[in-house]
Amino acid sequence: MNAKLLMKTARSLMADGKGLLAMDESDPTCNKRFEKLGIRQTVETRRAYRELIVTTPRLGESISGAILYDDTIRQITKDGILLVEVLNHAGIIPGIKVDSGADEMAGHPGEKITIGLDRLRERLAEYAGLGARFAKWRAVITIGEGLPSCACIHANAHALARYAALCQEAGLVPIVEPEVLMDGSHSLKRCCEVTENIIRAVFNEFYDQRVMIEGIILKPNMILPGLRCSTQESVSEVADATVMCLMRVVPAAVPGIAFLSGGQPGEQASARLNAMNVRFRSRLPWPLSFSFARAIQQPAMQIWRGDDRNIKAAQEALLHRANCNLAARRGEYTTAMEKS
Ligand code: G3H
Repeated sequence: MNAKLLMKTARSLMADGKGLLAMDESDPTCNKRFEKLGIRQTVETRRAYRELIVTTPRLGESISGAILYDDTIRQITKDGILLVEVLNHAGIIPGIKVDSGADEMAGHPGEKITIGLDRLRERLAEYAGLGARFAKWRAVITIGEGLPSCACIHANAHALARYAALCQEAGLVPIVEPEVLMDGSHSLKRCCEVTENIIRAVFNEFYDQRVMIEGIILKPNMILPGLRCSTQESVSEVADATVMCLMRVVPAAVPGIAFLSGGQPGEQASARLNAMNVRFRSRLPWPLSFSFARAIQQPAMQIWRGDDRNIKAAQEALLHRANCNLAARRGEYTTAMEKS
């Protein structure tokens, strides 16, 4: 394992107050989002949309790394340039999603286990050859009546550690994403308990499987009440609960934490990340950053709608959200930024 390379890549992903852009939706997920907006669901529309994203002028000023999907890492712009090259030219580090999605977990109705460990060593070598310098794996944890089970927590934590160890062997920084879903009527306190359990299980597995903590990025959910919970805490309450939860379970050696957005509206995700940085930044052992998909992309996709005439406006919307999150990482985001 090249520990120095891993630490250098992880530091670069966290550098200069920037964050990550997740643009690694699988074909079915991307198609679902396109369908809602009346965008044709073809290989070409998905490629064109990804080209729109990576060619956004000045994106590299707020985005340090972009997570690609298997087809995107091989695709070219209409002018024949690999999207990976466009990213490198913009100073954005290319990464890749390597899990194969979450499957129903046998014997555990309502729960999922992420798959994709078979031949992962070979796939990581191929992706490294295609220019990826980091990789992402997402585990999905559902809160419900009697859920999550210990088996679900354990199996997903085990898979995350096996993936992370293989990534490090291949010289790629693992972006470790145990996502506790927002769906449901659970309280913020329950989200905190479950998030604490899964993250603790992940770091225990890391220890057993010799994952180098200094060479990973953790991508957790924020601590939020379920979408159907009658009590919805304020921005500062969410910020406090999230930081307190992470302080209990994330070792100080971790080089960075980059939140997923989980379907929060973009403005809310920025406000919550900002509050964490305003209230705690000077006291935390790790930087708190972002690795959002929907909370950065959604307005741009809505403006584009598959029409080339909307590319410029869509890119402006994308850059705006990326800049809002850059400000949030620094604790400088205000709602006035949205009006301007
Ligand atoms: O796996 C999910 C993405 O990497 C993050 O997506 O910000 O829309 O939750 P999201």
